[in-house]
Amino acid sequence: MKEVAEELNKFLCNLVIFGRKVQNYHWNVSGRDFFVSHEKLEEYYNDINEQIDEIGEQILIMGYQPYGTLKDCLEHGKLDEAENKKISGADVYSNVIVDMGRLLKQCIDIKVQADKADDYATSSIMDEYIVGYRKKLWMLNQSIKEAE
Ligand SMILES: [Fe+2]
Repeated sequence: MKEVAEELNKFLCNLVIFGRKVQNYHWNVSGRDFFVSHEKLEEYYNDINEQIDEIGEQILIMGYQPYGTLKDCLEHGKLDEAENKKISGADVYSNVIVDMGRLLKQCIDIKVQADKADDYATSSIMDEYIVGYRKKLWMLNQSIKEAE
């Protein structure tokens, strides 16, 4: 169980970085599709905040301490931060696709590990996240490709 909690903690750090980044994009996105991307990004960072809370509490339920400072998150997270500058919707979507793909991979790895440790609760949470990220990734990919 300890190994699963450690991986969840690294995932939590990535979520914190990702949440900050997505809100930064919400502020800095510009261009013709501003209204759509601004609103979509708000929906995303609200979802991420819920996940941060859920994962932090899951780590506590398992008997471990979630990382709680930004310093911890930057040290243990693997995602890069976004630059604080204007960015187009298309670039935002491409960057979010890369990060979300990494988060999805991390969820799959945690699920495999949780199953081996008979940690059904974590495994079940990961199922939900895997389905959610896959759907978001499909939608994001639809949004950046030319219509056929
Ligand atoms: Fe806002």
